[in-house]
Amino acid sequence: MKEFARKLKRRLEAAVARAKTRREAKAAFRYDLKQFLEGAGALHLDRMAAARSEIVMAYHVVEKGLTMPHRRLGFGKGAIVHLVNLIDAFERRFGSGDAQVRHAVAVLKAYRELHRDWPEPMPKLDAFLAKRPDVAAAAQPHVRREDFFAQRDAAFPSFAASRHVCRHFAAPVPRKTLEDAIALAMTAPSACNRQHCRVHVIDDAGLRDRLFALQGGTRGFGQDADKVIVVTADLSAVCWAWERHDAYTNGGIFVMNLCYSLHWHGIACCILHWSVAPENDRAAHELLGIARSEAIVQVLACGMPPEEFDVAGSPRLDAKEVTTWHR
Ligand SMILES: Cc1cc2nc3c(=O)[nH]c(=O)nc-3n(C[C@H](O)[C@H](O)[C@H](O)COP(=O)(O)O)c2cc1C
Repeated sequence: MKEFARKLKRRLEAAVARAKTRREAKAAFRYDLKQFLEGAGALHLDRMAAARSEIVMAYHVVEKGLTMPHRRLGFGKGAIVHLVNLIDAFERRFGSGDAQVRHAVAVLKAYRELHRDWPEPMPKLDAFLAKRPDVAAAAQPHVRREDFFAQRDAAFPSFAASRHVCRHFAAPVPRKTLEDAIALAMTAPSACNRQHCRVHVIDDAGLRDRLFALQGGTRGFGQDADKVIVVTADLSAVCWAWERHDAYTNGGIFVMNLCYSLHWHGIACCILHWSVAPENDRAAHELLGIARSEAIVQVLACGMPPEEFDVAGSPRLDAKEVTTWHR
């Protein structure tokens, strides 16, 4: 009888704890939703930072286009007009001189230079660039494979600076090399060493294409990827309500470590967002047979690169611009 009472007490306590966690989780996600609605650039394009991010996103599409493996001249006409309009509107509201917006102009200039002999006129772009003669065209590095990986055993500053996403894949990734790269990525830290991340390797062109159709960010190069890595985080490792972001914080740390590890192993990869609609997330879980308890964090397209290829410049902000000292 005593044993029965003890068991009942334990069950009741567990039920009370679960109800408390559920209440706290709902409150926490409501708090996140409010913060998102108040802060997300997509909802506040009138703010300077959000308008700038929209421009960066639009110029990166063109920058990527300049370095794509199967690039055809005349690409991205709509994207060019869109970017010109965004920059015009930004400068009318906030003035000129912003470093990232200037880089967007430099990317447009590079696009125009590439189309120097293109027979179709580009009056809108030409008029836009004529008003900004002081901006030089943005260079997109052209690299040889051996140089791309040459800093493999260099000190960390050189190694880190040499890592870039690569959208050029020419040959299959040897299974053993990929396994070694994943093993090295396991050095990533995780909260209480709970090691939330799981790695799914797709080695089938049909599955790859169906996943990429759900992802939507691989046009022009996804079809060349030999393997695709899907990094998930097991929500079972989340121990209390306030850890609601832990799948993504631990997942992000793991993915960065994996990127360095792939680079060290001579494997080219392109990080791919997993910012998809709920129905696409659900479809991907079903497609790959991934348990619902695993949150998909990130997708990586991988392959061995060709002998030479282009890399998108992707310049960084100055660290001083992003650092605030609280003293
Ligand atoms: C979270 C995340 C999502 C990304 N999604 C895509 C994507 O869907 N398609 C793509 O071509 N590149 C994608 N990228 C690659 C970025 O464009 C690239 O990392 C960035 O421009 C910096 O360049 P770097 O990695 O060469 O330094 C993504 C990168 C990150 C970190």
